[in-house]
Amino acid sequence: MKIRGLIAALNSNNKFPYKTPELVVDHLVIGAGVVGLAIAQKLCEKFPTKSTYVVERHGRAGEETSSRNSEVIHAGIYYPSDSLKTRLCIRGRDLLYQRCKSFDIPHRKTGKLVVAMADQRPYIEHLHHKFQLQRENQDADSFPAGAVPTMLISGDEARAMEPNLSPEIAAALWSPETGIVDSHSFMASLVREISESEAGDLAFATRVVRVDPSKEEPGWVVQTATGKSESSDAILARTVFNASGLSSPFILNSLLPPPQQIPMFYARGSYASYNGPGISGISRLIYPCPETGPNAHAFASLGTHLTLDMNGKVRFGPDLEFLSPPESDDMDFWTRHLVPNDSKLQEMHLAVTKYLPNVTLEGMQPDYVGIRPKLVGPGGSFHDFVFRTDFPSQFGGLEGDSPMISLLGFESPGLTSSLAIAEYAVDNVLENGGRQQRRS
Ligand SMILES: Cc1cc2nc3c(=O)[nH]c(=O)nc-3n(C[C@H](O)[C@H](O)[C@H](O)COP(=O)(O)OP(=O)(O)OC[C@H]3O[C@@H](n4cnc5c(N)ncnc54)[C@H](O)[C@@H]3O)c2cc1C
Ligand SMILES: *[C@@H]1O[C@H](CO)[C@@H](O)[C@H](O)[C@H]1NC(C)=O
Ligand SMILES: *[C@@H]1O[C@H](CO)[C@@H](O)[C@H](O)[C@H]1NC(C)=O
Ligand SMILES: *[C@@H]1O[C@H](CO)[C@@H](O)[C@H](O)[C@H]1NC(C)=O
Repeated sequence: MKIRGLIAALNSNNKFPYKTPELVVDHLVIGAGVVGLAIAQKLCEKFPTKSTYVVERHGRAGEETSSRNSEVIHAGIYYPSDSLKTRLCIRGRDLLYQRCKSFDIPHRKTGKLVVAMADQRPYIEHLHHKFQLQRENQDADSFPAGAVPTMLISGDEARAMEPNLSPEIAAALWSPETGIVDSHSFMASLVREISESEAGDLAFATRVVRVDPSKEEPGWVVQTATGKSESSDAILARTVFNASGLSSPFILNSLLPPPQQIPMFYARGSYASYNGPGISGISRLIYPCPETGPNAHAFASLGTHLTLDMNGKVRFGPDLEFLSPPESDDMDFWTRHLVPNDSKLQEMHLAVTKYLPNVTLEGMQPDYVGIRPKLVGPGGSFHDFVFRTDFPSQFGGLEGDSPMISLLGFESPGLTSSLAIAEYAVDNVLENGGRQQRRS
């Protein structure tokens, strides 16, 4: 299958003609995934006298990517140390653990083992040394010293911690800061805070169907349709945060001329639940070394790993399968590809038994599927989170301080980073008139 990126636009079908807005809001957040919710909560807290309005096309928060992931609080070991992914992951991890404690959100700091065969030892050694080295250079302001503690241990030490590990495992990287969180409770806590604040409001089952630069007052004219309705309401939004996840490019591309439109790639990840031998007493997350090579770049997926949920139930996943997306924003396409089936189990079983040899295929059941929005296609290299800002005047609208801040490529570790993404989007990008800064 040839993989093409998606370039499609929201306004192009002309189903919803331009309309004059009847309402004005200060901040409009598109999407109630974990990122949109975190941004809205931050806006309500920081600007109690301004209005913040969240629009979500599903009947509940987080029905797309935010509820279909590993629910892992990542420590921040994987990404280049000068990247936003590293910086926001570390800050987000600390904010998330704090929030879990103050809001009684179920979570557990399990720690995690990245296990290596003899020939994979250089990979974990590199992860371990990366942060020590970087701190001695001038990158110390990216993250505090000791922010990413890791330990290199032998295969025997790893097996002493988790006796089910294969005798083939020669070494492991122990990351004590990694954990798991109940993402639904986390999102519910954000929804509650937003709806209880004076400033905030959420509209579910409401989709953004058209966005235009305003020609009358500074801002964006955003049209929404509720339920199955074919008629829309128009709102003038002074500032738009576009946190629409998989559908983000549809909205921006509706405004950009074709040569500037943004292609997005989508990679499906399937999970299997497991009930069977070979895992008894496991209490830590176990990750293989990501496979590198032309078809499986280390940054594309961390490999089929073992995660635990809050009830101690074991899951394996996610694998990586690029999709060829539809030409238009078709919610049914996503829904169809979010249905798990057993076509991937055998491959997954093969991957898992490399490090947990006694796991059986019979014990594996298809569980759920998530889709990663990616800025690079198969074989692509590292790509950071992108905060992109556009102004109405670029598209024939009025001059003025009305940014639309688009969040692009928020794949893993987006859940871990969400509270820091919100801080960055509001305190840095918005405060600086919409310009992204590398350092605060
Ligand atoms: C398989 C997989 C495993 C992962 N594992 C982890 C992990 O262990 N740890 C971690 O930190 N991160 C992980 N991630 C990443 C994390 O899940 C995402 O970064 C995060 O959920 C992104 O949140 P979001 O709010 O940007 O997007 P989404 O959750 O996709 O939210 C976007 C929302 O916008 C809505 N929307 C879209 N278009 C419109 C419209 N036109 N009108 C109204 N609403 C609209 C959608 O319905 C959706 O609810 C994983 C991701 C995947 C796919
Ligand atoms: C796998 O099962 C066999 C047979 O019961 C046992 O001898 C072996 O120790 C097990 N291996 C691991 C790594 O648990
Ligand atoms: C939202 O962000 C995406 C990138 O994720 C972009 O393509 C899209 O056009 C943005 N939407 C708007 C309204 O600008
Ligand atoms: C399982 O899902 C894949 C998509 O990953 C699809 O190609 C395949 O046809 C599905 N198989 C069945 C039996 O539904």
